[in-house]
Order: sequence, then C-alpha cells, then structure tokens
Amino acid sequence: MKELVLSEEDISAIVQRLGKRLTEDLADEKVPPVFVCVMKGALPFFGDLIKQVKRDIVCDFIQLTSYNGGLSSSGTVRIEKDIQTDLDDRTVVIVEDIVDTGLSMQFLLEHINSRFHPKRLLICALFNKEKARKVPVKVDYTGVVLNDTKFLIGYGLDYKELFRNLPYVCVPTEEEIAAVDGD
Ligand code: IMP
Ligand code: MG
Repeated sequence: MKELVLSEEDISAIVQRLGKRLTEDLADEKVPPVFVCVMKGALPFFGDLIKQVKRDIVCDFIQLTSYNGGLSSSGTVRIEKDIQTDLDDRTVVIVEDIVDTGLSMQFLLEHINSRFHPKRLLICALFNKEKARKVPVKVDYTGVVLNDTKFLIGYGLDYKELFRNLPYVCVPTEEEIAAVDGD
C-alpha cells in the first residue's frame, strides 16, 4: 500500500453517519424504500450501510461493467444482472462505491427511468470524485469527496478484479499493480 485512504474505523464512522441520515430522511416513507446495490464494487459498503438503516427496506442488486478492468474508465457500460423489484412509485436509493466520470451513474439513471417510474431516485456513494466528472451527476449522500483522482483499491474497489476483499481503502503501489499485470 502506498497510502491509506480509509481505515476500518474511518469506514465504520462514515457508514454510521450515512445510515443515520438515511434513517431520518426515509422515516416518513410508508412503502419500504428499495436500496439498490451496484455490484460488484459497492457490495461491502452496501452490506455495512443497510445494517445502519433502522427501518424496513427492500434490497436489490444490479451489476454493471464500466471500467475496462484497468485504471481508467471506458465509458461503455453493460448490464450483467438487472433489478428484479418493481420500482414504480417507490423511493429508490442507489448505493455505489465511486461516482467518478459519472458515465456509469448516468447510464444507470437512464436505465432505471426507462423501465420504471420511481417516486424518487437518491444516490448514495462512498466516494465522490467530483473533479473527474464528464457528465453532471448529483450525489445525495456522499461518504468522502475526493479532490484528486488517484486510483483506489479495497473495500469493494478492484484492480482487475483483485483487492475487493481488503477491509480498508488505499492507493496501491506501482509494484502491487505491476504484480497483477505480471510485469
Ligand atoms: P464512472 O462511470 O467513471 O463514474 O466510474 C464508476 C465506476 O468505476 C465505479 O463504480 C467503480 O466501479 C469504478 N472506479 C472508479 N474509480 C475507481 C477507483 O479509483 N478504483 C477502482 N474502481 C474505480
Ligand atoms: Mg461500481
């Protein structure tokens, strides 16, 4: 690891803060809101976050691929697994690991709005790389705003499908990346 970005303690504090806000903001919803996990990256964050939401909710999952498996965003998004729940007239909270260029989220919002008519669509992201946007996307619940665009691994975030199981988030060393590349 070159630099620790979020320790397990940092993550726990962020998840508790976001869970508390979501619990408060969704308190008046009569119909259980649907929390949609954007796989695979958001999986650990989603698992921790929903435990801090103290009300009835429904969970669903969508799997997108957008990243080329490498260090830069490809811009092309494909759906590998789609949402099963009917989102019509429901409040939906999309849970993402990182909103970076915004291209994946823009695609996801268009996809959901083309299939359903949700009551409202909220976005909760662990990381918001605001400066990297290619399209405007507003994040309603942000864990951390990142002012630089360093590539991160851990706690769901991968490099070529590895490192998702690290319990913290860090910047990898060049050697760690090279070892995965087989250089
Ligand atoms: P976007 O379409 O550029 O906003 O990219 C969004 C997706 O790219 C995220 O959901 C992540 O899966 C992935 N991504 C963006 N930045 C990073 C990073 O620093 N490390 C690992 N994955 C990333
Ligand atoms: Mg993702």
